[in-house]
Amino acid sequence: MKVSKKIINLETESAFAVLARANKLISEGKDVINLGIGQPDFPTPVNIQEAAIKAIRDGKHGYTPSNGIPELREAVAEYIYNEYNVERSPEEILITPGGKPTIFYSSLILGGKGNEIIYPDPGFPIYRSMINYSGAKGVPLNLSEEDNFEINIEKLEKLITDKTSLIIINNPNNPTGSFMNKNKIDKLVIMLEKYPEIFILSDEIYSKIIFNESQMPSLLNYDALIDRLIILDGWSKTFCMTGWRLGWSIWPKKLYEYANKLCVNDHSCPNSISQHAGIEALRGTKETIKDIKKEFHKRKNFVHSKLNELEKISCFEPGGAFYAFPNISKFGMSAQKFADIALEEKGVALVPGTSFGDSAENFVRISYANSMENLEKAIYRLSAI
Ligand SMILES: Cc1ncc(COP(=O)(O)O)c(C=O)c1O
Repeated sequence: MKVSKKIINLETESAFAVLARANKLISEGKDVINLGIGQPDFPTPVNIQEAAIKAIRDGKHGYTPSNGIPELREAVAEYIYNEYNVERSPEEILITPGGKPTIFYSSLILGGKGNEIIYPDPGFPIYRSMINYSGAKGVPLNLSEEDNFEINIEKLEKLITDKTSLIIINNPNNPTGSFMNKNKIDKLVIMLEKYPEIFILSDEIYSKIIFNESQMPSLLNYDALIDRLIILDGWSKTFCMTGWRLGWSIWPKKLYEYANKLCVNDHSCPNSISQHAGIEALRGTKETIKDIKKEFHKRKNFVHSKLNELEKISCFEPGGAFYAFPNISKFGMSAQKFADIALEEKGVALVPGTSFGDSAENFVRISYANSMENLEKAIYRLSAI
């Protein structure tokens, strides 16, 4: 069998493997609380569901333009204007099946042999996987607990070489829940301005789930980066639409057609029904979304304080997303072992830190996208490890 080496070396996202293991145990009758998978536990708001049902009834079942229907790209442009006071043309906006394709396309377009791509470690595992797949050298940027898992700008600058083609930034961050505020982003952008040849992929998929600041400091707000900035955002987390597979990205004009060609080659167009639902999500009422954000905030406070009450666990306070990243080093076991015991013996599914990079051996990721009742039960169970 002559299978491509690139495919053999492709990595995966272990949150899905944890989900499968947890579901198997549940199907065998075990009581498992799933704090593994990163998706909101709320249903998609009803107004969005209704828009999808209407789209089916109206016969919106055909192929759409590969980059998304014009009305949806206009709705994204409007949304961005309302959120960030930034004018971007619908011609720069690309609609994709979820946020993930943007990581794939950025890596394919700016990767390849001879190029280096800097990515956060710990970070979303698909960054490293896709960088390697492209043939580029992946350069991990360690986010450390001492820095509150924020980017250490000096450390980042030291990793830049004349081969660096792309830097990936993820704010708020998966898996740590860290959030860099405007002050920090201002400083980061000042450093990035010194390297005008390097593209930036700003993964802002958790942009609406932030707790201590009212405004998300999107890189869209920095004119100096406009010619080399790729923004990744979408509906999955903000609008509880993970399974609808709908994301948007904003591309520099000089890269847009490459990304759009990849869309045609890969999936022809995003799901037409989801796109109509996406218009309603952006233009319709946001009341449910506000309530969900409040609920995540309440859970964050609960999980953070309860974890820190445990003798052997310390947990830094997350500023965004719906993840906590407790330090479990006092248990004297690997993160994988801790996660195995939590699942097999205590019925709590969580993801070992090492799934997000080599630097996170002392951590596990807890997704608090679960009810308060289950969170309380799960932390009680963890206290018995
Ligand atoms: C940091 C980050 N970026 C991108 C994605 C991909 O999102 P989507 O499900 O829309 O493809 C995720 C999903 O978990 C994520 O955590």
